[in-house]
Amino acid sequence: MKLNSHQQDMLDGKYSKGHAMAMEILIAIGDSFNAEEMVPIDRAHVALSAQKADTWFAEKMAKAGVTCAVSPTVNPGYSICYFKNKNLLSEEAKDNMLRVESAYKSLGSTLTYSCTPYLFANTAHFNDIASFSETSVTIFANSVIGARTNRESSFSSLCAAITGYTPLYGYLLDENRKADIIVNVEADFKSHFDFAMLGLMAPKIGRGNPIFVGIDKMSTEDHINLGTQLNVAGSYALYHVLGVTPEAKNLEDIVDKNVREVTITDKDLEELKNKNLPEDKIDFVMLGCPHYTYDQILYLLNKIRKDKPKVPIWVLTSKANIGLLESMGLKEEFNSYGVDLVPDTCTDEYLVWNFLKGKKGISDSPKCSYYMSSFGLDISVADIDTIIELAR
Ligand code: F3S
Repeated sequence: MKLNSHQQDMLDGKYSKGHAMAMEILIAIGDSFNAEEMVPIDRAHVALSAQKADTWFAEKMAKAGVTCAVSPTVNPGYSICYFKNKNLLSEEAKDNMLRVESAYKSLGSTLTYSCTPYLFANTAHFNDIASFSETSVTIFANSVIGARTNRESSFSSLCAAITGYTPLYGYLLDENRKADIIVNVEADFKSHFDFAMLGLMAPKIGRGNPIFVGIDKMSTEDHINLGTQLNVAGSYALYHVLGVTPEAKNLEDIVDKNVREVTITDKDLEELKNKNLPEDKIDFVMLGCPHYTYDQILYLLNKIRKDKPKVPIWVLTSKANIGLLESMGLKEEFNSYGVDLVPDTCTDEYLVWNFLKGKKGISDSPKCSYYMSSFGLDISVADIDTIIELAR
């Protein structure tokens, strides 16, 4: 790979051992994809996840004396303060999260602890070059904003943040952003949840870059749901929606010559919905995977004002949203209904959610169900209206 003098100096250790390591990793990735050069990045997001391997790598980099050239926003781990106040924080969980915080702070990260940073702290622009890890962040940036990022790991995005560069390959190049699957959508979308179901159709859609045809309009939440579930269920980094997303103004320009077609109908979506419904009564509700938007929180509030829940509800969202709700006296109102707004927290955190083991939960996110079932929790999936009916 061709390196400029700045990149070569980093590789030669003229900055720090950490810069050299990060550059070596990026070169290895670039070589495996036949990248010919590195390009500067405009922004980065690291899916830190408070998991051991991520923390090990971040600490290694911090010890090697690096500060990020481009400060990355970071994924949620869990809120020490929230779980401590609830008496749910073990010493192990506390130490783990403190280590994560200390490592990423010393690397110069922006501690957003959010999986929707594109809504408030890391909003990419069209054609920005980014290095994003995290299922919803990567695909949202590529598809909805028209920024350019590969589907990075937490390690590779941290290396890009440290050096300020990423290898030029994959979704950074025009030719790899063409659609090669036309997905004819013959379905009537009634809620944000229906777009999560469309994302779960990944096995039927198959591998490639889909362009959805037959959808007139999508909200931010629709995009978050579609992108997240496409990425979780099928490792997609990009989708287009004809007439909706920025690179899909007309079919001729965006479609690859080797295109194939798939059709998704209401019946497909209904079958999926019915498959994921609970068989039994539920003990708790988990919402906000990805983190709930302000509009989703207000929708929930209106629902539970009419139908008071009888089981605990957790809503994961950003500190910014919670601060706003608090300033309006709405946080207390949520609490009075047995609903907790939890900042900085991910569902995929066994150390803090393991007290729910043995109970039956429900979520409006298939991703939540997928991750929490990996550590033994039983989470069914339904749209928010059904969930509130089941919870009352
Ligand atoms: Fe966010 Fe964690 Fe879900 S990062 S999308 S809450 S698995």
